[in-house]
Amino acid sequence: MRIVITGASGQLGRHVVEALLEHNFPASSIVATGRSVDKLADFAARGVQVKTMDYTNPASVAAAFQGADKVLLISGSEVGQRVEQHRNVIEAAKAEGMKLVVYTSIANVDTTGMKLAAEHHATETLLQDSGVPFALLRNGWYLENYTEQLPGTLAQGTLVGSAGDGRVSAASRADYAQAAAAVLTTDGQGGKVYELGGDHAFTMVELAAEISAATGEPVTYQDMPAADYARVLAGAGVPEAFADILADSDLGIARGDLLVPGGELQKLIGRPTTTLAQAVRSALAAI
Ligand SMILES: NC(=O)c1ccc[n+]([C@@H]2O[C@H](COP(=O)([O-])OP(=O)(O)OC[C@H]3O[C@@H](n4cnc5c(N)ncnc54)[C@H](OP(=O)(O)O)[C@@H]3O)[C@@H](O)[C@H]2O)c1
Repeated sequence: MRIVITGASGQLGRHVVEALLEHNFPASSIVATGRSVDKLADFAARGVQVKTMDYTNPASVAAAFQGADKVLLISGSEVGQRVEQHRNVIEAAKAEGMKLVVYTSIANVDTTGMKLAAEHHATETLLQDSGVPFALLRNGWYLENYTEQLPGTLAQGTLVGSAGDGRVSAASRADYAQAAAAVLTTDGQGGKVYELGGDHAFTMVELAAEISAATGEPVTYQDMPAADYARVLAGAGVPEAFADILADSDLGIARGDLLVPGGELQKLIGRPTTTLAQAVRSALAAI
């Protein structure tokens, strides 16, 4: 059984490779791919096969897929270009006769109004039309979307956004990665759809309170119209088009688009998901 991990040079992909190794999946049966194999040198040193793959270069995808049985397609990071990129990967998986394509989609893709979901929806349609056996990991938000902002949040004493009093079922990248590893290494996954998120959803006010509790510093949540939030993000250096998408995602949170009931992530990983308190405290310890 040979499993290809795309995006293995990224943060989620690295966790997936680690999770497979922790579960004693043979290193030599993992193919870790990314646009630069330099970023994968540590995995190569541990016996993992590493190969260059650029979603925009079908020949590189076909070469990385040679002899492989399953692939985890981690959605690309170039918003706006991802449908064609993912199409190349799905077509190569079909040509290789893969037994399973596992795709990292977005939570509630069937019902969400979030702009960010459009490419995931289109990719799921490509998979359905391809005839390739596939499983969907409809991942919710990462806890790290918030914890990576902690230095700035603490400096301002304010958390800003447009999520209102919406609840978000965020989970850590490591938790989503362990779920991916479980799906990749378990039989009978063709056709499975997992809606994944953390066990305990929280509001931005609760997030601010958690940061205050962990630091002893007052932190409040300031809600604002999405256009204003997009301007704040752009002012902080986020490219304008992406700032709009992030602000729009906050409106999605306000509507409940990233609220995931059901505990499916907990079931896949066999333990409770990482809590907000744990994530905040471990991120603070790393600052
Ligand atoms: N659920 C959430 O909250 C959330 C948040 C952010 C992103 N996401 C989605 O989840 C994905 C994984 O998250 P992450 O945190 O691991 O992101 P990340 O650290 O930015 O990693 C993205 C990975 O995708 C690879 N990639 C991008 N474009 C590619 C291309 N054209 N060809 C081949 N590989 C390409 C990158 O390779 P390089 O190393 O070569 O750049 C990298 O390995 C993201 O790409 C995005 O689609 C989800």
